[in-house]
Amino acid sequence: MPEQDFMPIQSFDFLEFYVGNAKQAAYYFQYAWGFTPIAFAGLETGLRDRSSFVLAQGEIRIMLTSALGASGEVADHVYQHGDGVKVVALRVENARRAYQEATQRGAQGVMEPTERSDEFGQVVLASIAAYGETVHMFVERDVYRGAFLPGFQAVNNSGRIHDDAVGIIGIDHVVGNVELGKMDEWVQFYEHVMGFTQLMHFDDRAISTEYSALMSKVMQNGSGRIKLPINEPAPGRRKSQIEEYLDFYDGPGVQHIALTTDDIITTVRNLMARGVDFLSTPMTYYEDMKDRADTIEEDLHQLAELGILVDYDEDGYLLQIFSQPIGNRPTVFFEIIERKGAHGFGEGNFKALFEALERQQELRGNL
Ligand code: FE2
Repeated sequence: MPEQDFMPIQSFDFLEFYVGNAKQAAYYFQYAWGFTPIAFAGLETGLRDRSSFVLAQGEIRIMLTSALGASGEVADHVYQHGDGVKVVALRVENARRAYQEATQRGAQGVMEPTERSDEFGQVVLASIAAYGETVHMFVERDVYRGAFLPGFQAVNNSGRIHDDAVGIIGIDHVVGNVELGKMDEWVQFYEHVMGFTQLMHFDDRAISTEYSALMSKVMQNGSGRIKLPINEPAPGRRKSQIEEYLDFYDGPGVQHIALTTDDIITTVRNLMARGVDFLSTPMTYYEDMKDRADTIEEDLHQLAELGILVDYDEDGYLLQIFSQPIGNRPTVFFEIIERKGAHGFGEGNFKALFEALERQQELRGNL
């Protein structure tokens, strides 16, 4: 029998990216990805070393942070890794307890439980180390009524020419890449320290192409709301996409973030119209799908036109597409996913996806 959930997590709270130019990244996420600016912290709010822009869409909040000088944690992180995800924040009922449970079970503490308050209420924040330099922050904010967190000022969007959201509503999963041989260490971390269980496992025979292979294990928390798959490279004939990531990110880190929509065709059309680039899918993929066209509600021609992939499991199907890397380095990217009952991660598409990734990798001279 599984023991009682010692780490009850309510949801993803926010994702913080450390980036080279947060102000311009905020513009990108607003106008390309349809997010709305909600909060800001920087020189005007009393910070001296960084500025942070917070944007929201549906239940998703992303924070974009840049250094205001050449030294310090943010500058060092961007210098080494390029733009990337620093914090995967998890909302909990009791951040002190979450921190205590995790550190007692072997997690390395990064920030001890810290209370912050302003006129809108108070929050408790604490964080622990995850893979690479990535951090999990526990956020307890039940009584907080402000725009984001104490220390941030709300952004006034009135009078601004404002595009509509593109229909992205939540975070489905956040995937980490770890080094060869490190998978089990991180599986154990999520099991023992975070109380997660392993939902699925794909080995390198399931996920391989002519050139590369990888292994993937999907970890999920007690409620099933938080899914954190972990990838490890497997030896292939040439450099795998995971190795390419590890080389250019200079270590383990978040590979992709899957965002949910309930109308993927409209969402992807919107994103493409705003300049977001996606991986393309060969026409042969849809030719192979023709005899299954009546098993999906969507028009196969529209899916083919946009390059949206389809996968099935015993509970239904899912639709998904992957963006190009969002920064200069071939590292972090997004997935758009619409679930029609299926609980999988597109494993039936892994081969088609990897071949698409490898075409891009080859163009970069990294295959
Ligand atoms: Fe994914």
